[in-house]
Amino acid sequence: MTGFSEINGLLHAEDVSLADIAARYQTPCYVYSAGHIRTRIAALQSAFKKALPAASQPLIAFACKANSNIALLHLMGQLGLGTDIVSGGELARSLQAGIPPNRIVFSGVGKTDEEILSALKQGILQINVESKPELERLAQLAQKAGKKAPVALRLNPDVDAKTHAKITTGKDENKFGIPPDEILSLYRWGADQPALHMRGLSMHIGSQLTELEPFRRAFEKMAALVNELRAENLSVTALDLGGGIGVVYRDESNADLDGYAALVRDIIHPLKTEIILEPGRLLVAEAGVLLTRVLYVKEGKKRRYLILDAGMNDLMRPALYESYHAVRPVDMRAARNRTTYDIVGPVCETGDTFGKDRELPEMKAGELAAIMLSGAYGFSMASHYNARIPPAEILVDGARHALIRQRDNLNDILKKEFIPDWLEEWPDARSA
Ligand code: LLP
Repeated sequence: MTGFSEINGLLHAEDVSLADIAARYQTPCYVYSAGHIRTRIAALQSAFKKALPAASQPLIAFACKANSNIALLHLMGQLGLGTDIVSGGELARSLQAGIPPNRIVFSGVGKTDEEILSALKQGILQINVESKPELERLAQLAQKAGKKAPVALRLNPDVDAKTHAKITTGKDENKFGIPPDEILSLYRWGADQPALHMRGLSMHIGSQLTELEPFRRAFEKMAALVNELRAENLSVTALDLGGGIGVVYRDESNADLDGYAALVRDIIHPLKTEIILEPGRLLVAEAGVLLTRVLYVKEGKKRRYLILDAGMNDLMRPALYESYHAVRPVDMRAARNRTTYDIVGPVCETGDTFGKDRELPEMKAGELAAIMLSGAYGFSMASHYNARIPPAEILVDGARHALIRQRDNLNDILKKEFIPDWLEEWPDARSA
């Protein structure tokens, strides 16, 4: 169950037919199931309720880079979640969604002065610092602003997360975090700064992890460091374990939430700190589809193409990571022969391909299809490439549905570009 199921031969988001959604809001559009997001959050929370006492429950800070739509963040806030942000934009979205600042953590290797200052001004829970120069800068800025900055140092534990190279973050060749052997001296330095409050450590080793072993190794490294820090009388009160738990796009093994929570119970909980988690994909990937219409069925010389009105600018993951997303026809009422397609978008690149050699019921131009598991890193990575406009976003909750992000208006976009007067002087200026 992902919030999307076939009812009387038509694919529905909860109780609402995707055909009705397309008629009402046009395609392409992202459609999310509120109910399924709540189910995923409840699954994570219940694994931790079983593993840890009530007073030690983790703060779930949703990594809002996965999907920063304000309505979705609001829904998460209602369930007690915070956010993990990586920019001033994500801070603004979180606040607009009503996430309390004391549930916001700020990660990222390249925070600007402006971003740091607005985080300090808002009084967010924690800033995860990723380098020595960043810690020094933060101390200066906090002192000038008359604030005490709450800090965790992001540890790069150098473990192999066994995931796609482009989304691995915890190896020593990655730009993220601070190597274990530099943490101690940096933490000590931080503890001496009046403008810094050293809370603890954070980490995030990669995304779409399907095994627990890399988490175990990273947690153990973190725990060993906490003991080293405490042996020097340094106070460690918070540990942020990052995100990374994967979902089943195709044939991966299902996330073992109980196993994950048991690792936290065995390795992290004995350290008696606050615990923060930063899941992104786990909470929203399954809960979204990209709803699209077939523009043409093209018989190529060698292959048969299903050409959709959604492209790589709308959902970039297949082009960027060769990731798998199932594609399903919305209307399955009539029995049809099956055939093999390459499913592509309209963008002028060969990489604009959602799937190759996909066997599907025969489809016709004008029919609707859903690109499944697109709720995470879908809209949030959309672009204007080919001067296309990213899709609208729709939220479904039971029988209710609403537009939660309007498509941009082309005129608004065109209005933001200017032709300098001096360009008019050409070619005179050149020939002079
Ligand atoms: N915390 C930090 C500091 C992160 O950098 C990330 C993701 C997360 C948490 C959440 O990770 P998750 O639970 O979603 O795995 N665009 C790629 C994924 C990039 C992930 C970047 N960092 C994709 O579409 O697969």
